[in-house]
Parts: sequence; C-alpha cells; structure tokens
Amino acid sequence: MQADEFENPGMLWVARGAKLWRQAEGPDGRSCASCHGEAQSMRGAATRYPQVDLGSGRLLNLDGRIMQCRSERQKAEPLAWESEPLLALGAYVAFQSQGLPVRPTIDGAARPFFERGRDRYHLRVGQMNLSCSQCHDANWGRQLGPETISQGHGTGYPVYRLEWQAAGSLQRRLRSCMSGVRAEMFPYGAQAHLELELYLAWRAEGLALEAPGVRR
Ligand code: HEC
Ligand code: HEC
Repeated sequence: MQADEFENPGMLWVARGAKLWRQAEGPDGRSCASCHGEAQSMRGAATRYPQVDLGSGRLLNLDGRIMQCRSERQKAEPLAWESEPLLALGAYVAFQSQGLPVRPTIDGAARPFFERGRDRYHLRVGQMNLSCSQCHDANWGRQLGPETISQGHGTGYPVYRLEWQAAGSLQRRLRSCMSGVRAEMFPYGAQAHLELELYLAWRAEGLALEAPGVRR
C-alpha cells in the first residue's frame, strides 16, 4: 500500500501540501513557492533534520523549520504542531526526499542535543520500566500483542496510520510508544521529543527516507 502512490492514503496529505505550497498568505501575499520556487528545490532537505538553527541555537525538526519559515519569513498565521496544514506541508516537503539517505549532523552545536537524546533512548521509563532500546534494539522481530516490534526507525514520517485513520508525525508515534509503557507523554514540540528524533536520525543514518509511510 505504501509503495503504490495511488493506494497510499498518505499521498492525500502530499497533495494537500502541494496546494498549500502555492497558496498566498500573510501581508505580502507570499507563498512558499514565491521564495522557494518548485518544491523540488527541497530535495534533500528532510535528510538533514533535526538540525540546530544557527540564528536561535534551537534544535528544529522539519516541522519546526516549516513553522519558523511560515511565521517569520512568510509572516502568515503560525501553524500548530500536528495540525492538518503542517502535516500536509511536512509530508510534501519530506516526499521530495523520498529514497535519499538520512544524513543528520551530530557534531558541533548538535552534540549536546544528540547526547541527551541518546541517554533518553536508553532510559527506563513508565510503569513497565522499559527503555526505547529494550524494545527496538533488544526485542525487534518479537510480537507485542498484535504488533511486531520493528527496529524503530523514523524514516517514513509523517505516516498514514490505519489505527489513526489519518496522517501523524513521528512525535505522535513516540507518544504512542510512551503511553504503551505507561509513561508520561511529552507534549508536541517538546525538546525531549526533538532530541530523541535527532538520536533516531543518527541510528537511521544511510537508510532511505520513505515518507509518506503507511502503518497499521
Ligand atoms: C519570504 C521568503 C520565504 C517564504 C515565504 C518561505 N520561506 Fe522557507 N526559507 C526561506 C529562506 C531564506 C530559508 C533559508 C535559506 C536556506 O537555508 O536555504 C528558508 C528555509 C526553508 C526550509 C529549510 C530548507 C533546508 O534546506 O533546510 C524549509 C523546509 C522551508 N524554508 C519551507 C518553507 C515552507 C513550507 C514555506 C511555506 C509555508 C516557506 N518555507 C516559506 C524563505 C522563505
Ligand atoms: C514496549 C515496547 C516499546 C517501547 C518501550 C518503545 N516502543 Fe516504539 N514501538 C513499539 C511498537 C510495538 C511499535 C509499532 C510497531 C513498530 O513499528 O515497531 C513502535 C513503533 C515505533 C516507531 C515507528 C517505526 C515505524 O516504522 O513506523 C518508532 C520510531 C519508535 N517506536 C521509537 C521509539 C522510541 C524513541 C521509544 C522510546 C521513547 C520507543 N519507541 C519505545 C514498541 C515500543
């Protein structure tokens, strides 16, 4: 279903993203396309996120960069985390990098974020007292209820998930994992999520991006 563009429901979000890309907004009536041209100019961009924003020193994932561009450069109304337009634009921009290998930077300014993400990945949490690593490194391939535990790569996100009947971000998936072990879920956009995403990107280095993915 994922491999067939006509069957993959995530392609609906990509199509919405393509429309939003050309939509004029803000006081200057600019669209993403006014500055960036055709979306092919974004090929490769998704492979380098999360990354440190040099201006603010903050760690941004692709959604964060889109939100920043939208409010600071386009001067349009801010987009909320996990909102439909953000998922659509994120799917459209990530789709431009389909098939390209993940290549995050973990040195320099990114290093402290990376180290915190790595530590958190190995930290036991929740009533079940399990770390990410215990499932996705030590037990992949095993059944957990109806699910087969994978190696936990974020390369297909945003994905269309049948259980959600909608597209969702990697952070939404991480919240499912946290709730699965009965741990406190981080809010969308939380630094802890971004740091985990950077660690996941490092683990996935060299794997091909496949957004929009389809998951059960
Ligand atoms: C007023 C011009 C302007 C508008 C409008 C604009 N951007 Fe940008 N955008 C920029 C500039 C300048 C950069 C930084 C240049 C760079 O890093 O290549 C950038 C960077 C980006 C990046 C990071 C690219 C990378 O290689 O890391 C993304 C993603 C992005 N914009 C998406 C969008 C989206 C989606 C929209 C519409 C919602 C949008 N931009 C609207 C000017 C704009
Ligand atoms: C109790 C076991 C368990 C723990 C602990 C757990 N997960 Fe998961 N995770 C799952 C299951 C089950 C799925 C859904 C099936 C799959 O794709 O692995 C999943 C899915 C994922 C996916 C999506 C994979 C894909 O291809 O769609 C990622 C990424 C992920 N987990 C990362 C994490 C991170 C990061 C943590 C720690 C914060 C974590 N998981 C903790 C069981 C777990």
